[in-house]
Amino acid sequence: MFHTVICDLLGIRYPILQGAMQGGGGVELVAAVSEAGGLGVLPTFGGTDQKLRADIAAVRSRTNRPFGVNIMPMGRGITERCAATCIELGVPIVTTGRADPGEAVVRRLKEAGIKVVSVIPTVAHAKRMESEGVDAVVASGTEAGGHVGTVATLPLVPQVVDAVKIPVLAAGGIGDARGLLAAFALGAVGIQMGTRFMATVESDLNEWGRDRLLEMRETDTVVTRAMTGATVRCVATPEIEAYEAAVSRGAGEAELKELAQRVRGSRYGESKGDRRQSAAGQVAGLIRDVVPVRDLIEGMLAEAARLADRLPAVARH
Ligand SMILES: Cc1cc2nc3c(=O)[nH]c(=O)nc-3n(C[C@H](O)[C@H](O)[C@H](O)COP(=O)(O)O)c2cc1C
Repeated sequence: MFHTVICDLLGIRYPILQGAMQGGGGVELVAAVSEAGGLGVLPTFGGTDQKLRADIAAVRSRTNRPFGVNIMPMGRGITERCAATCIELGVPIVTTGRADPGEAVVRRLKEAGIKVVSVIPTVAHAKRMESEGVDAVVASGTEAGGHVGTVATLPLVPQVVDAVKIPVLAAGGIGDARGLLAAFALGAVGIQMGTRFMATVESDLNEWGRDRLLEMRETDTVVTRAMTGATVRCVATPEIEAYEAAVSRGAGEAELKELAQRVRGSRYGESKGDRRQSAAGQVAGLIRDVVPVRDLIEGMLAEAARLADRLPAVARH
């Protein structure tokens, strides 16, 4: 019942993409999502070419199913290097996040037979990516974890659906069957989730991060420039709250720089109790268990089918 055009376009069984997650989704998660019938996507942000090559080989050793590689266009050199590696190694799908990789890069990927899916925060950005030739867009609302814009998923998705002819997926704030069904109601042909996939057995989030995720409320994230300079939605830690308080009282550049360094310098611990800065979305408040990826995906689809059957009755009340 949930087979849509995006399944045929990307060669996947279910219309569920795992959004690339730097620090939350390594090869085990990516391979598990693809193996379970969705699309796992490798992050590349901040990584070397060597790591990307090793990650691609590791995913391929775990699954024969399609997977994606995410390019964060944070600089022409990095964007072109990632694209060239994806072409050389025959990666089937590339997703782009935050910025525009540029028409020439999109054309090169497409000429190599790679499907390109761009994550976009506005209608204008969706139209630009469509005109550059991408195959589909993910309309991602400000609720999402990671780099975000200002428009929420609920108003963004239908406006993007009305504005472009290519398939549109929804992201930002989706964490269970209700969100999946809502995305379809808005006109999306599939979804991308990040935060929910962090709370899985296969994610590489450390123990502290996982425990934190399970106890978070919907108000425990904050959008800050302290992490990368651009607006990123993260877990609200004391370091980030100190940075944001300084922004609110109009602190000078030098103070903000020092506070941002403190955020970026806070250690990524591996053992329980260590503090870790992490992107996360508002849907964190909904997550109360850590489950295997296959159970998550199949459970969501089964529950969505049950809910869809009940909808006509709900709508009459
Ligand atoms: C920890 C974390 C890291 C992320 N890193 C990236 C990234 O490297 N590239 C990217 O395009 N998006 C990144 N994102 C965004 C996700 O791919 C996805 O679009 C987003 O999480 C969807 O919203 P949700 O968190 O509400 O599910 C990240 C998100 C999280 C939570």
